[in-house]
Amino acid sequence: MAICVFGSLNLDLVLRTPHLPKAGETLSSSTFETVPGGKGANQAVAAARLGTLVHLVGRVGADGFGQQLVAALLGQGVACDGIFEDASARTGIAAITVADGGENQIVLAAGANGLVGAADIERLKPKLPGASALLLQLEIPLQAAISAAKAARDAGVKVILDPAPAPAEFPAEFYSLVDILTPNQTEAEQLLGQPIRSVADALQGARSLQQKGVERVILTLGDRGIAVADGSDLQHWPAYPSSVCDTTAAGDAFNGALAAALDRNHSWTTALQWGLAAGALAVSQAGAQPSLPTRASLLDFLQAHS
Ligand code: RIB
Repeated sequence: MAICVFGSLNLDLVLRTPHLPKAGETLSSSTFETVPGGKGANQAVAAARLGTLVHLVGRVGADGFGQQLVAALLGQGVACDGIFEDASARTGIAAITVADGGENQIVLAAGANGLVGAADIERLKPKLPGASALLLQLEIPLQAAISAAKAARDAGVKVILDPAPAPAEFPAEFYSLVDILTPNQTEAEQLLGQPIRSVADALQGARSLQQKGVERVILTLGDRGIAVADGSDLQHWPAYPSSVCDTTAAGDAFNGALAAALDRNHSWTTALQWGLAAGALAVSQAGAQPSLPTRASLLDFLQAHS
C-alpha cells in the first residue's frame, strides 16, 4: 500500500561538542554540518528507505534550504507533491548540538512548519485513500495535527502519533483519534504529569495513556527499550545493543520502520522488532536522515540479532 506523513521539514544545523553546554558556557565544535531533518521528513525517509511508498505533506519556505530538503526527499523516493513552498515564510531550521556521548540539545525555528493548516489538510485528503497509516508528530500547529487525524479517521486510515515535542496541554479529544501513540520518556512524563523513573513506571505509564482512549501505546526508553500496552497485554521489550554516536532521529527511525512493517502486513511483533532495529541502527550513525537504515541493512541487522 502506502503511508502518508503530515509534518515538519527542517534543515538541521549540527555542531559536535565534548559535552552539552551549560547556561552561559561557550564551547567549540570540531565540525559544522547542515543535514536534512525535521520529524515529519525523517519519518518519511525512514519508511521510504525500507521500501514503502510514502507521501509527505508539509511546508517549506521559498528559499535554498527548502529546495535542498525537497531534493533530498526526492532522492530517497518520497512523493513530494504534497509539500507547499510558502513564499511568506523561511524554511524551518533546527540548531542541534550533539555531545560526544550521542545525546543532543535541539532549538527549533518553526518557520513554514508553523503555518501548516487547513490548506495542507486539503492536500493531504486525496492521498489518504489507499494508505495504511497516517504518521503525525507535533512540530506543526497542534490544531493542524488534530484536523489531519480526523481526516484520516474519516478515510478509515490508522493514525500513528509521535507526540514530539509534547505540548503543555494535550486535548483529550486527540487521544481518541490515535491508534498508536509513541511518546518517549520525556513526552510521556509531560502527557501524564508524573515522572517515569523505571521500566515498571513506563509500563504503568503506557497503560495510563492507553486508558485515555488509544488502542496501542509504545513508550520508547532509548537504551532501555520500549514499554508496550496493546489491548490487555503489557510488555517490556529490551533495546538491541548499539554503539551510540548520535541519538538524533532515533524516534523517527522507530516510527517510520514500525509503519513500514505494518504497511507490509507484517505482524505486530515484527513491526516492533523493525522499530527497535531501526532505532539502534540510527543512533550508531551521525545526523538525522543520513542515519536512517536501508531495508538491506535493517534485515541484516535483524538476522544478526535473531
Ligand atoms: O527528531 C529529530 C529531529 O528533530 C531533527 O531532525 C530536527 O530537525 C528536529 O526536528
